[in-house]
Amino acid sequence: MISDPEAPLGRPRGRSDPRPTIWYPAAGPPTRNNRGLSCVCCRAGRRDACIPFDLPQIPGGQVLQTGVLIMRRNIVHIGADELHYEIRNIVEVAREVALLSGQTIAWENIGDPVAKGEPIPAWIKDIVAQASQENSAYQYSPTRGLLETREFLAARTNALGGTEITPDDIIFFNGLGDAVNKVYSLLRREARIIGPSPAYPTHSSAEAAHAGSAHITYKLDPHNGWLPDLDELRNKVKYNENIAGILIINPDNPTGAVFPRDVISEMVAIARDYDLFILADEIYINMVFGPAREQHASLAEVIGETPAISLKGISKEIPWPGARCGWAEFYNQHGHPIFQKYCQSLLSAKMLEVCSTTLPQLVIPRIMAHPDYAEWQSERNAFYRRRSEQIKEIFARCDGVTVNIPDGAFYLSVVFDKAARPDASLEIKNSAIRQYIHDLLPHGSPADKRFVYQLLGAHGICVVPLSSFVTKLAGFRSTLLERDDDRFLWIYNTIADAINRFLS
Ligand SMILES: Cc1ncc(COP(=O)(O)O)c(C=O)c1O
Repeated sequence: MISDPEAPLGRPRGRSDPRPTIWYPAAGPPTRNNRGLSCVCCRAGRRDACIPFDLPQIPGGQVLQTGVLIMRRNIVHIGADELHYEIRNIVEVAREVALLSGQTIAWENIGDPVAKGEPIPAWIKDIVAQASQENSAYQYSPTRGLLETREFLAARTNALGGTEITPDDIIFFNGLGDAVNKVYSLLRREARIIGPSPAYPTHSSAEAAHAGSAHITYKLDPHNGWLPDLDELRNKVKYNENIAGILIINPDNPTGAVFPRDVISEMVAIARDYDLFILADEIYINMVFGPAREQHASLAEVIGETPAISLKGISKEIPWPGARCGWAEFYNQHGHPIFQKYCQSLLSAKMLEVCSTTLPQLVIPRIMAHPDYAEWQSERNAFYRRRSEQIKEIFARCDGVTVNIPDGAFYLSVVFDKAARPDASLEIKNSAIRQYIHDLLPHGSPADKRFVYQLLGAHGICVVPLSSFVTKLAGFRSTLLERDDDRFLWIYNTIADAINRFLS
């Protein structure tokens, strides 16, 4: 409760100020800005004018610091500190490096095939262009999404011969990132989803933010083809009553692993044994190109009666990331009333937004049922297969790293097996960049962050430190996306040489 509602909040008060002490509700302490400059006078640059607030203690025991910027209530969500996305954070650093060097950056940090120069076939562009001439492309769509498109997608899933869905078991979202966010934010606070580590930050951050505490993970083992440690998963599920669901990302980002059918079946069995649901991110499900292709399966094929959500989209597959279009398929909601109510809440939340983008939904069946689509997909997969074989050859000469050649998606996670010396570094010739990167790496920065930032500073190659994917493993994630053969070889040969220097 604030005893003087007229008092301008955030202003420091003099000792003789007659106004009564302001007390805060126990809900939480006031905030201060992240530069440590907090009260009004400090922010105005008059630090000496700062006078301690007359606030001895917040009920609940926290003593206020002087000069804390006050608001009536702490408006920061309990999970705000859990939102991390180094994949895009590093872009700012790379831009600065580009500015200082005048060099073009090799963007190996982000999974956008189109930004990396993948050409979109003329027949896909024609379909989109024609659809853009139809008035219906400009209207709202139904909240769940266009019926014909949901019918088309439900039929595709049903053709797998596993679980059966109807068009009403599908909801469209504005990109799968939107779906991921809603899935976690509508879970009851104490209901936790255990996910793979290394973790894809869109999931791990959203899950941690929803719960207000660190994401719970099961390990993917780099020394076993990045497959999950199923005993660890079963044990964690067994001993943590809060775990309500298991996240599977298959094919996986950031590792490029494809889980074989028996592994997914075992994960489903764990979910079944403990009455959990499965959340499967299958955005890369049709992008499997390595030897694991022979044994891989979609969740729909193995889910049986267990409740589940499969998340799919067009960002990577068509590829059309700028369309912001993805969807959720709900499996077995009707046999499970709590799960059904939760799925219904996702629909209600979408209703508040009216619907998702219409044009991409309109063209999905036209593109996916086009006679050239299958051929287009196999050409793309052949390209990634070739890239992963090139990677295998290049990294064969690296010492002290584990490199699993991707079987699917288009990511590669390289693990440093050998600890880097504390003073390990890569030489950056440009002094301004050297200083800039040095300032970004305070003493004690993780070895892989040092490697990644120095690689960027020295060669203009932008990858992402593995330690930013909720793992204790050191290394980095990069992509197979570079289209130009010579540039691809230059990028990975340069990285391989840099690893050998850094870990020597
Ligand atoms: C595993 C995974 N899920 C979801 C997304 C988000 O996809 P969208 O572009 O549809 O938001 C990505 C994007 O990189 C991803 O890799």
